[in-house]
Amino acid sequence: VSTQCFFRVNLKVMSEISAGPGTVNFTINRELLAKTVLQQVWKDGSAYGAKSELFSAVPRQKAVIEFSSPNIAKKFHIGHLRSTIVGNFIANLKVALGHEVVRINYLGDWGMQFGLLGVGFQTFGNKEKLKSSPLQHLFEVYVQINKAAEDENTKKLAKDFFRKLEERDEQTLSIWKQFRDLSIEEYIQIYKRLGVHFDEYSGESFYQEKAQEVLKMLEDKGLLQKTIKGTGIVDLSEKKDLSTVSTVMRSDGTSLYITRDLAAAIDRMNKHSCDSMIYVTDKSQSNHFQHLFQILKLMGYDWAERCQHVSFGLVQGMKTRRGEVIFLEDVLNEVRSRMLQNMTSTKTTKEINDPVETAEKVGLAALIIQDFRGLLSSDYQFSWDRALQSRGDTGVFLQYTHARLHSLEQIHGNAELADVNVACLQEPDAISVLQHLLRYDEVLYRSSQDLQPKHIVSYLLTLSHLVAVAHRTLPVKGSAPEVSQARLCLFHAARSVLANGMKLLGITPVNQM
Ligand code: ARG
Repeated sequence: VSTQCFFRVNLKVMSEISAGPGTVNFTINRELLAKTVLQQVWKDGSAYGAKSELFSAVPRQKAVIEFSSPNIAKKFHIGHLRSTIVGNFIANLKVALGHEVVRINYLGDWGMQFGLLGVGFQTFGNKEKLKSSPLQHLFEVYVQINKAAEDENTKKLAKDFFRKLEERDEQTLSIWKQFRDLSIEEYIQIYKRLGVHFDEYSGESFYQEKAQEVLKMLEDKGLLQKTIKGTGIVDLSEKKDLSTVSTVMRSDGTSLYITRDLAAAIDRMNKHSCDSMIYVTDKSQSNHFQHLFQILKLMGYDWAERCQHVSFGLVQGMKTRRGEVIFLEDVLNEVRSRMLQNMTSTKTTKEINDPVETAEKVGLAALIIQDFRGLLSSDYQFSWDRALQSRGDTGVFLQYTHARLHSLEQIHGNAELADVNVACLQEPDAISVLQHLLRYDEVLYRSSQDLQPKHIVSYLLTLSHLVAVAHRTLPVKGSAPEVSQARLCLFHAARSVLANGMKLLGITPVNQM
């Protein structure tokens, strides 16, 4: 059976295959189905699906994944949030499938804005505030100095500050380094709330000097051309008629965003010798990455073909009560407080041990599912109300299903698969759940091919709907012991697969809500 085909027949669970006029009939052996699925879920646990034969021909690889990558002293916009959750998902998925992953956060930590920021801090800065809330304070200073930057003197001071930075003046560098270090420290804490971590915090600053080496290499390879204005360009057109060019050097000889990216890519490959390099940003940077990969190719780096830009669409209208989103923390606080309010109004918080933490996890699930439901490339209109609905296809519904399944096990205890008579799982609603569980590996496979989370999302939503039906028609309480044990096993398997899938998406399943 081809692993590529949309309709996959799992022969392990078939008892009969017969041909009719123009049709092929497959008969499922229900007992075999129950036994196969339940045993596999029990045996593989959190690796269920990932150990399927669908992946046996896929070689284990190493991927460098760059995501999130906010700019210091600037806004953390919704694009950065999307990059964070998408990159995290891709990394989780690859790790689950046995690949090695390096997670990189490439900060916007260099450029003229640091000249302004440096001068701004001398004028408006406060050391205490910088220590206690660096992201907020640096942003405020940056806004203030930008207003003042109209005047020529400030402009000159900022230029001087940045020039000293570029010349590696020790004192200037140490101020810059403090901005950077404190910002990273705060970011690490906030990412933790999202369940996200990075192996490396890199940034444009690292490649400032290396970018000069890249320019030298481009020149040596005859790829660098000078315009009349003195800027350096690379001709990317097929006919070499300058119909498509990429500017890699300013007229004063300094590097640009793309030059630093060239240096960063070469460095990453040298350091990690990976099989693939993935960049996750919104689609407004598609051209940038296309140019980046093209230049690398022209430079003779064949691995440029293994570089990939995973792009996503724009999200409109995400606002918090404080107004426009400026900090990641605002989004997290907002979703938590909105969810807490919903939970309190439906009076479910009483029995919960830690309602605030639960609200955060459920709220994040809501954000992630709203974002991951469609194709990543599509734009969408953000809505708190739609995301946080308890009914319908939301992250709240997934969390609710998980909590409900968990409490079933709390009440009735864990069933032991070894003692269970799978023949008790004959009802159509049980079979539907089992058949769905059997197909989990297929959605993992699909998502691993196109790196789209939507396959897993719709799978988990369907699973939750099937479970809701089974919950109604297949009671555990009040059934004969043999039947209720078998059903408990079925629900346990459903919870286990649901939890696995949620974790891949970056959601922490809750046990109560
Ligand atoms: N800091 C950039 C921004 O906020 C994103 C960086 C993307 N990664 C890269 N290697 N260029 O737009």
